[in-house]
Amino acid sequence: MTQDELKQAVAKAAIQYVIDGEIIGVGTGSTANFFIDELAKIKDRIKGTVASSEATAARLRGHGMTVYDLNEVSEIAVYIDGADEITPAGAMIKGGGAALTREKIVASVSRQFICIADGSKLVDVMGRFPLPVEVLPMARNAVMRQLTALGGQPRLRLKAGSDQAFITDNGGEILDVAGLHITDPAALETGINQIVGVIANGLFARRGADVCLLGTSEGVRTLTFA
Ligand code: A5P
Repeated sequence: MTQDELKQAVAKAAIQYVIDGEIIGVGTGSTANFFIDELAKIKDRIKGTVASSEATAARLRGHGMTVYDLNEVSEIAVYIDGADEITPAGAMIKGGGAALTREKIVASVSRQFICIADGSKLVDVMGRFPLPVEVLPMARNAVMRQLTALGGQPRLRLKAGSDQAFITDNGGEILDVAGLHITDPAALETGINQIVGVIANGLFARRGADVCLLGTSEGVRTLTFA
């Protein structure tokens, strides 16, 4: 099976977690896009969605689904999103698609977080995938120095094919931090949040996944976290 077929399989499997009549939080990225296409097939069963990025909102609207502003919503039944890495304990690195801050906000008000990922994303120790950190542009170099002091090698994310900084939906910039061997994801998540100028970091350990649907060549594996 190709990686896309594995992503499609977990996207289909995630439909069983959608609750009729409820608002569904929707993530960002290629796996989330497959999920949106599946959700569109049952769109009449749900009340609507909250999107974790402008790109996701556009895709949801393109399928004729209602997208609520988070300020109009007090609680979300379930949040469904991909990950760049996930541990056997349900901690994740996210933000490869630059939507980490909104993803973290939507996840924080969701009763359940269902991670959908192909099997290559499961790792024992995170850090091989550079950790995305969203920063205010004026704080970029100051934050970089502090991330270097933590043992990382931060690099400013650039717009594809350009030497200009990539700008997020929130007007932030992204530092991708290589070289981290993340043995205590919750402590590192908190530590990076303490750096002034950081908007959010891509560690989802304090609010990790509740369930991970993992696409493998033997089928979709369900990992449940306490
Ligand atoms: C988006 O900002 C990310 O958090 C994605 O969820 C993550 O990068 C996974 O993306 P893919 O589904 O494209 O692998």
